[in-house]
Amino acid sequence: MSAKVNTMGAAGARPDAAFPSGAPRAGETVLSVEGLCVGYRGEGGSRVPVVEDVSFELRAGRMLALVGESGCGKSVTAAALGGLLPRGMSVDGGKIAAAPGILRAGRGLAYVFQDPGQCLDPVFRVGRQIVEAMPRADRRRSRERLAELLEQVGFHEPERVARSYPHQLSGGMQQRAMLAMALAGRPRILVADEPTTALDVTVQARLLRLLADLQRKENLAVLLITHNLGVVAEVADEVLVMYAGRAVERGPVSMLASPRHPYVEGLLRALPRLERGAGPLEGIPGQVPALGRRPAGCPFHPRCALARAECRERVPEWREAGDGRALACWVRGGGGR
Ligand SMILES: Nc1ncnc2c1ncn2[C@@H]1O[C@H](COP(=O)(O)OP(=O)(O)OP(=O)(O)O)[C@@H](O)[C@H]1O
Ligand SMILES: [Mg+2]
Repeated sequence: MSAKVNTMGAAGARPDAAFPSGAPRAGETVLSVEGLCVGYRGEGGSRVPVVEDVSFELRAGRMLALVGESGCGKSVTAAALGGLLPRGMSVDGGKIAAAPGILRAGRGLAYVFQDPGQCLDPVFRVGRQIVEAMPRADRRRSRERLAELLEQVGFHEPERVARSYPHQLSGGMQQRAMLAMALAGRPRILVADEPTTALDVTVQARLLRLLADLQRKENLAVLLITHNLGVVAEVADEVLVMYAGRAVERGPVSMLASPRHPYVEGLLRALPRLERGAGPLEGIPGQVPALGRRPAGCPFHPRCALARAECRERVPEWREAGDGRALACWVRGGGGR
């Protein structure tokens, strides 16, 4: 089975005395990322930055959504938390710190991916795979625990699902089986990287609501990566928007109603306005710069209608904007808009 399957001690994170030990209360920080930088050695030996200076916190019972265009570093950021970076990439700077409880046996970080094939092994029955992901204490009553987990993720016939091989389940069912497997390890943190992209829209929404429900009931800290801003507004508590490897704006999910960073404004304009009838999509002109070709200054400046001289020269400082919001923008970060 894949090494990515189970709940794992967060190999990328370190226990930190700054966190209280024991079960966290809802809203308590269980993992903090400060100034994370990830890169790889490019041609000629120079470092190519992939993720630069990204900071956020994951809290028990809360969902943080990580959004941004393809290639902006969402998956790499998520992979860094569990020490699952692609070969050749490494953490070049910053600090990932976790509550001691996170790293105790069976109290780790679990991942759910877009492709069930990354987690579910085609040659074993689903039930067996879920049991293998359980901590030892639960294996003594594995039948009951298995039924409990399968019911938790919405299966009405847990025995039948447990006996099935992955290919005997639909895409949505495989995704739920993967979620059950992630929960089997009793994680404190669940990282869901585009868990629903391969599914049709109604199944997507159902799965994300299930995730939000489990997060509250199990007091899980969830990091959800998705392109679907409509879903984010419905299920997440906080949002962090990335662009070209950097965080550009973060805050409570309500910030999506009045974003300040020009990139976030553009992303939201690019959403189809279904409720107003389908008009032309106003996207953001230009493209995300390729790795190794990111511009100096603000990474978004070549595509930004508001860019001025300092945006081309210096990376914007991260500024608090009130109500738990913060952004990195020389033009909009200074207070007024
Ligand atoms: N295994 C890898 N080897 C080399 N480069 C990689 C690898 N994985 C990702 N990258 C590069 O790192 C950058 C960030 O990729 P990442 O997968 O984190 O983006 P993402 O935001 O998750 O995008 P998407 O929305 O498409 O999933 C991209 O430029 C990507 O090409
Ligand atoms: Mg990704």
